[in-house]
Amino acid sequence: MAFMGCIVFLTIIMNGLESALGGGPPQVPCLFIFGDSLVDSGNNNDLNTSSKANHPPYGVDFKHGPTGRFTNGKTIMDIVGELLGIEEYIPPFANTSCRDITKGVNYASGGAGIREETGKQLGDNISLDKQLLNHKTTISRIKSLIRNQSSAQDLLNKCLYAVDIGSNDYMNNYFLPKLYTTSSKYTPQQYADVLIRQYSLQLTTLYNYGARKFALFGLGPSGCTPFELNLYPTNTCVKAVNEAVQLFNGKLLKLVDDLNKRLPRAKFIYLNVWALQSLDPALIGIQIVNMPCCEVTSSTGLCKNGKQPCPMRLFNLFYDDFHPSETVNILTATRAYNMLVPGDAYPTDIRHLVQDS
Ligand SMILES: *[C@@H]1O[C@H](CO)[C@@H](O)[C@H](O)[C@H]1NC(C)=O
Ligand SMILES: *[C@@H]1O[C@H](CO)[C@@H](O)[C@H](O)[C@H]1NC(C)=O
Ligand SMILES: *[C@@H]1O[C@H](CO)[C@@H](O)[C@H](O)[C@H]1NC(C)=O
Ligand SMILES: *[C@@H]1O[C@H](CO)[C@@H](O)[C@H](O)[C@H]1NC(C)=O
Repeated sequence: MAFMGCIVFLTIIMNGLESALGGGPPQVPCLFIFGDSLVDSGNNNDLNTSSKANHPPYGVDFKHGPTGRFTNGKTIMDIVGELLGIEEYIPPFANTSCRDITKGVNYASGGAGIREETGKQLGDNISLDKQLLNHKTTISRIKSLIRNQSSAQDLLNKCLYAVDIGSNDYMNNYFLPKLYTTSSKYTPQQYADVLIRQYSLQLTTLYNYGARKFALFGLGPSGCTPFELNLYPTNTCVKAVNEAVQLFNGKLLKLVDDLNKRLPRAKFIYLNVWALQSLDPALIGIQIVNMPCCEVTSSTGLCKNGKQPCPMRLFNLFYDDFHPSETVNILTATRAYNMLVPGDAYPTDIRHLVQDS
């Protein structure tokens, strides 16, 4: 019985997605994406890094196959783009030649963090600061394409800027004390403050580049990822990691209020990924919560090249040791776009952010 309920619930969500995709003009002219592997769509493909997903079994359920997306199918941002009525997937910055950059660019990079040194053990990295520099390059290309400065500025003001970053500052920095010194320098409370201060400056830079509509994704329960469960063996989730991440989320929520007050005509929203991903997974038919779907390389937690993934991917929370399966991404993105209960998003959801103005 419970099992049937799950399938029905998931079907409703999927149908909601289908009907939302029924066409109509895009709700924003452009979407710019910043972040880490949760939303990367191929920026690491040509980098010297072990954080790569441009090989099978990544993309096994994606229509373009393995592209560098760190999951079996679509990322959260692919789904948000569809819900916004944007017809094509936003191209990765690394591959924008011959693509229309005026509809948006994806700068996200696996391993990236708010802090410059985050993820350095994985190899080359495109930190959030570097992503902002790449965006500056895009802006000058857009300005030379459009020629008219004021209409270029007008376009940049109307785009949606979606940012999903911070997990690596914990999982590939603070909680790897043998490789990074942050945990000996800062308490979790201080570390969250340091991260939020830097993030606040980075978002203000993006504002100064013309961004006005910001969708900030909070962090999910990182302490429940198979990667952390292997590192700090426990039966449930790693409490220290989850508590640290929640401190960050609490401060990010306050930052949203602060930036909405401080930056004229800017609208920031916070998407409560934690709440969206801490539901009882059984409610959405997910049965396997503590194991990856693919066979992983233990040092990286990423899928081994060319191995068969698990057959019932719909029922897995995780695709590899870090990254949610497409099922979870669909749930997260649909509720971020159109909140199901208050608390999914603050002060409003993506749909209202883009439509009420
Ligand atoms: C790639 O990085 C590794 C270590 O991070 C280094 O040993 C190697 O020389 C690099 N390869 C290239 C082509 O830069
Ligand atoms: C770059 O984009 C083009 C056009 O979509 C695609 O055909 C090509 O495979 C992409 N290249 C890489 C390296 O991702
Ligand atoms: C990040 O990558 C850049 C190359 O893109 C490299 O120069 C830099 O050293 C890397 N940072 C760290 C801390 O490894
Ligand atoms: C730029 O575009 C605006 C309207 O979008 C127009 O009013 C203005 O005259 C244009 N400026 C130039 C130099 O063409």
